[in-house]
Amino acid sequence: MKERFTRREFLTTLEAIGLTAALDGFNWSKAAEDSAAALRPKKVDALENEPVITIAHCCDPQLGFGEAATPEEAYAADLARLKKEVELLNELKPDLVLYAGDMTNNWKEVAKDWPEVLKTIEAPVLVAPGNHDIPDPVKAPVVKTFTDVFGKEYDSVVLNGWKIVAFNSQYVRPTEERALYDAQVEWFRSELESAKAAGLRSIVASHVPPFVKSLDEKDEYFNFPATLRQTFLDYLVANDATFYLAGHTHTTLERDYLGTPILNGETTSRNFDRRDFGFRLLKIDEKLNYTWDFIEVQKNPAGAAK
Ligand SMILES: [Fe+2]
Repeated sequence: MKERFTRREFLTTLEAIGLTAALDGFNWSKAAEDSAAALRPKKVDALENEPVITIAHCCDPQLGFGEAATPEEAYAADLARLKKEVELLNELKPDLVLYAGDMTNNWKEVAKDWPEVLKTIEAPVLVAPGNHDIPDPVKAPVVKTFTDVFGKEYDSVVLNGWKIVAFNSQYVRPTEERALYDAQVEWFRSELESAKAAGLRSIVASHVPPFVKSLDEKDEYFNFPATLRQTFLDYLVANDATFYLAGHTHTTLERDYLGTPILNGETTSRNFDRRDFGFRLLKIDEKLNYTWDFIEVQKNPAGAAK
């Protein structure tokens, strides 16, 4: 992967995630600092009050990516873990199930089992497509294959005073699909800014996280191009984005930007850090205390190598 974008790629990438205003000289950094000075989330061992919202944060079911002797066995094992995950989700009854992308390892197989699995999930479901669902560069027929199963390429929901916005981070890479691209730009900005105007805090979700370990890390497969990371995050915080939920890394990570936690949880397909298979349950109370507990779906046979 090349290290630097051309100017055109940089501009269009900013547009893709809804940041054209940044090019007009608006100081998102100052606005983010002002917003961050308000109450920020605090992780606790247990909530003292009832949560105002509970979100199941599920990463990379990625059917077919698990470690097995054959691709068929991998797919079957991943699907079995996904079905067990759904059983647990239905027992826990979260307000929302968020899938942070890579629903399948091969986008052409997305209609094979997901339509039936979706019918069994009782809570509302929000999906942010992954790079295995809509590989880059984004192409309209592939988007259609995804939306035929999941309904939308990006979507939001308002629950209990929170807006959860799941977008397609595949647009941080250049694409020729200008109309699709522009549509996400308009939608994303409208969602974030209207939420703030309405006094709602937002939770933003995408497959690729803005960064893996640090804001100034080098460009790689697992992060956003460095040229836009900070502006993007400033924009989010300025608009009261209070949590960021991601997938893609197959490694469990907790870090933050100006007090906004950026979280990547365990998968049910393959965990590069050898953690057990499962998902996270995010519970937030009215004071912005939160827990983000691991819910185990299956022990990882490779876990001894931790
Ligand atoms: Fe993945």
